[in-house]
Amino acid sequence: MGTQRILSGMRPTGKLHLGHYTGALENWIEQQNLTAQDGTRVYETCFLIADYHNLTTSLETGDIYQHTIDMLTDWLAAGVDPEKSPVFRQSQVKEHTELFLIFAMLITSARLERNPTLKEQVRDLNMESLTYGHLGYPVLQAADILLYKGSVVPVGEDQIPHVEITREIARKFNNHYPHPTKGEVFVEPEPKITKFSRLVGLDGKAKMSKSLGNTILLSDGPDEVQKKMRQAVTDTQKMRKNDPGRPEVCAVFSYHQRFSSPAQLSTIEADCRSGALGCVDCKRMCSEAISRELAPLLERRKPYEENPALVRSILLEGEEKARVIARETMQEVRSAMQLGEL
Ligand code: TRP
Repeated sequence: MGTQRILSGMRPTGKLHLGHYTGALENWIEQQNLTAQDGTRVYETCFLIADYHNLTTSLETGDIYQHTIDMLTDWLAAGVDPEKSPVFRQSQVKEHTELFLIFAMLITSARLERNPTLKEQVRDLNMESLTYGHLGYPVLQAADILLYKGSVVPVGEDQIPHVEITREIARKFNNHYPHPTKGEVFVEPEPKITKFSRLVGLDGKAKMSKSLGNTILLSDGPDEVQKKMRQAVTDTQKMRKNDPGRPEVCAVFSYHQRFSSPAQLSTIEADCRSGALGCVDCKRMCSEAISRELAPLLERRKPYEENPALVRSILLEGEEKARVIARETMQEVRSAMQLGEL
């Protein structure tokens, strides 16, 4: 067996925030750059822009091009290396829709109705009814993953149910349609989540999210980070500077847990509890820790930000590479199914 492949993706919702970074992007880059002792890469990595998936929750497509470029600029700034990892749009590799159609026959609608991520989305967006396409969200995602035979899927925890459905579809296909020479066409992928898979919002809500307007962007400079941090919700019982605080209920402390060093963290925790540390100073330290981590991203994004045509050409090249893999898999699928063998 050759190198294992990793496939992951995001919907093009525009500029990315810290939650995207800690939840997935950082993990992608770690896997992309992982090497074995002999210097060869452990995984081949492919990263997908799920533009069709956007249609499941919004029919508006007017901003999609800009959102795609903005998101890809953030990927590149964070360290996605297009030489190592092809990046591509789902809508530009037609095999995604072909495999989606076949997979749609391998799963029941009752199973899809039980998807907890879907239920959460319907609740959060106050949706009154569900389209057929939205119900099929994980089926399209299964096609994304299996088209590239991704065996590992680095994602945030909300995506685990989708990877589970992908495994069920792969199993069903393999049982039903063994390949005449290769045996099983698909591998059952494993999800891989990070410790900080869900970052709370600046408002203390469970999740940092664009629609809730409680984010710090990866493209925010130090001043912007400071400014946003000033509005962050802390322990509401800590009214005055020297009141003792409860780090466990504080959004700012949860960021320190990710962005400050272990030594700093224990001082901050002790000084917050004793009342020695006020929220203003604590927030300033937190902003600095975040900006320290974002500094290399700000530097790396410059050439791309100045030249969107470069970002576009990276995308077009990635799509060429993706098509080659996708075509091969679809040939295997068709021969296993005896479709078009006449
Ligand atoms: N559903 C994923 C999200 O919202 C995006 C996505 C689409 C994806 N296709 C994928 C993630 C394939 C991993 C693999 O984050």
